[in-house]
Amino acid sequence: MNPMSLKEALNSFPRENFSNSDPLSVVGICLDEQTWTVLKSFAESAPLIRLRSHLSEYRVQETDTGTEWMAGPKPEICIVDFDRDRRKAALAAENIHGASPDTAIFAVSADAQPDLIIQAMRSGCSEYLLKPIGREQLLNAVARVGGRRKERAQPFRAHVLAFMGAKGGCGVTSVVTQLGVLLANTFSKRTLVVDLHSDFGDAALYLGLTRHRYHFFELIENTDRLDAELLQSFLARHSSGLDLVPAPEGNDGPRRILPGAVAQTFDFLRTRYDYILVDMPPGLSDENLEMVRHCDQFLMVALAEVSALRNVVRQFNYLTHKEIPPERFRVVLNRHQKRSLITDGEIEKTLGQKLFWKIPNQYAHIVKAINGGEPIAQLSTSEVAKSLTDLAMHLGAKPIATDKKKDNAGLRGFLGR
Ligand SMILES: Nc1ncnc2c1ncn2[C@@H]1O[C@H](COP(=O)(O)OP(=O)(O)O)[C@@H](O)[C@H]1O
Ligand SMILES: [Mg+2]
Repeated sequence: MNPMSLKEALNSFPRENFSNSDPLSVVGICLDEQTWTVLKSFAESAPLIRLRSHLSEYRVQETDTGTEWMAGPKPEICIVDFDRDRRKAALAAENIHGASPDTAIFAVSADAQPDLIIQAMRSGCSEYLLKPIGREQLLNAVARVGGRRKERAQPFRAHVLAFMGAKGGCGVTSVVTQLGVLLANTFSKRTLVVDLHSDFGDAALYLGLTRHRYHFFELIENTDRLDAELLQSFLARHSSGLDLVPAPEGNDGPRRILPGAVAQTFDFLRTRYDYILVDMPPGLSDENLEMVRHCDQFLMVALAEVSALRNVVRQFNYLTHKEIPPERFRVVLNRHQKRSLITDGEIEKTLGQKLFWKIPNQYAHIVKAINGGEPIAQLSTSEVAKSLTDLAMHLGAKPIATDKKKDNAGLRGFLGR
């Protein structure tokens, strides 16, 4: 992400949201004397922060006690000086981020080179404060942490449903996008689709949302700074009301995602939505595994084919081995046909579990919907639409029934009844 545009997006900050009744605990690391003095006088004059301790070493050697000093209640802010040793400072920030993803990390430095700023942000810092630190600069940064703390304190709400294909082409993107549109439109649920593909994701294309600025991996890189306002700049909005965080447009190189970042991002997203549907690429990468650990339901989309079914069994075995609770697993059989060569009974026997959902095979409807970019309108009388509507209800969504006329025009009209 271009640092200037990020700066613009960050320009307004939720100072008014920040309750000052409960000061944020702060630990300083390798700060020079002048910076520590500024912090002390700031803490004394405004009850926004409470200085807990100052470490005079980065403690990143293997022989060091690492982040043991963080045992007990985690500090809410760590302020790390990057000028004494940039490499060690970045490592210290990564260690802190790994041990306590909720701790905000501020880099302080006299060097304002953009690549150094980006490097610090990538190691988990949410702020880059330029020396000599001014009161206003510090106040803004602290207020942002306070605002985020308040937003994150809201109880988790969204149901996170992670969809993965037993192999490519099973219909994950079709199901996720169309179920998403239904939940947003017919059921008036605050719904978000996240495309977790690291390259060549299709969700934006299937929804006809090809003009967007940022993608999911940029969102993850900014997770420490994420608040309601910044999130808006990452969303593409479909006419149904569905929000989308798309995948990168092409393949823009491998990305290093800090452990815990996927979970942390979804913790925040959960506070903003009723349903979050995740379009995962097939396979068990570290990000996928973290996603499976963090979701409420993991739905594997399969076809009635030997290779797909074999993959379902293998992946479930692997996930069970990784201690993912088996009650979270669901199998959705897509392109279901009543007269299939492999019967439902045989499939369930192979899988060792009941099929959670069956979505009928209606290629023409799906293709028309995708090409039209308006899934809900195109699918209004199809069996696929009916199956997905029933699925939405099974997942707990209730159709809105404001008045009788609207109800008829809504769900039943949508089903062509
Ligand atoms: N229920 C269905 N009936 C018929 N064709 C389907 C159905 N669901 C998906 N398809 C078709 O299967 C193909 C692959 O779908 P897609 O959603 O791109 O899969 P994936 O995201 O798992 O790779 C597409 O051509 C799509 O139109
Ligand atoms: Mg896909």
